[in-house]
Amino acid sequence: MDKVSNKMEIRQISKTFFASKGYFVAIEDVSFDVRDGEFLVILGPGHCGKTVLLNIVAGLDKQTGGRVLYDGTPMDGVNNQISMVFQKLALMSFKTVMQNVELGLTFRGTPKNERRKISQKYLDLVGLTGFEKSYPYQLSGGMKQRVGIARAYANDPKVLVMDEPFGQLDAQTRYAMQEELLKTWEKDKRTVIFVTNNIEEALYLGDRIVLLSECPAKVKAIYPVDLPKPRDMTGKIFLDLRAEISSNTDLAI
Ligand SMILES: Nc1ncnc2c1ncn2[C@@H]1O[C@H](COP(=O)(O)OP(=O)(O)O)[C@@H](O)[C@H]1O
Ligand SMILES: [Mg+2]
Repeated sequence: MDKVSNKMEIRQISKTFFASKGYFVAIEDVSFDVRDGEFLVILGPGHCGKTVLLNIVAGLDKQTGGRVLYDGTPMDGVNNQISMVFQKLALMSFKTVMQNVELGLTFRGTPKNERRKISQKYLDLVGLTGFEKSYPYQLSGGMKQRVGIARAYANDPKVLVMDEPFGQLDAQTRYAMQEELLKTWEKDKRTVIFVTNNIEEALYLGDRIVLLSECPAKVKAIYPVDLPKPRDMTGKIFLDLRAEISSNTDLAI
């Protein structure tokens, strides 16, 4: 049977923050599937609730309504099959590149030799061979993001969750990183959930795009992007889709 299998199912998720002076609805009734092996992009304007949603999907925060299913089973807290690449990289400044990539493995008690081997594999994969002993302050912004990606991969997750990982980079580095990430993903495919507020980035990377509204975040539309990768950002289908998504967004994104 040729049935699409879902790695995760996000069902009617909502999130309300309560404070002494009242409450704030950040997410309202958000549902979508994450298919096994796909590169799913969540696209939405700034402050619409993307990070709040992602933390729930990754099991780092709890929703106030709805369910998140992983392999058909409701999630309950942290799931070590899911690894996160954060918007602002939490690299440890006093640890080397290698030690930063090894972090998750160290926590898990993986023996040193094995840790080194796994970390080296992913440092090579993201193009950081030769920088193992460097410290974060010696790296450019793009290289730091690669460390974050290698670190997430080193945990050997089934699902990689990335929260605007290239948001702080200049445009040129950002394009280069998008290309690098695609190459990495082609070589070592994982299910990816990638958040961005940038339409071009979404269209360049995504197999499907979940478009969110402004806050409180709701799903406006889900767009399949049936274009081969790497994609031509000046091709007609690309530009038509870009115009369509753009006309369906609440804010300039
Ligand atoms: N812990 C919190 N308590 C109250 N409000 C929050 C909290 N975390 C996020 N928010 C609010 O939720 C909204 C969405 O935030 P966020 O998900 O970070 O946006 P973005 O789409 O830029 O990632 C923002 O208005 C933010 O102020
Ligand atoms: Mg965010």
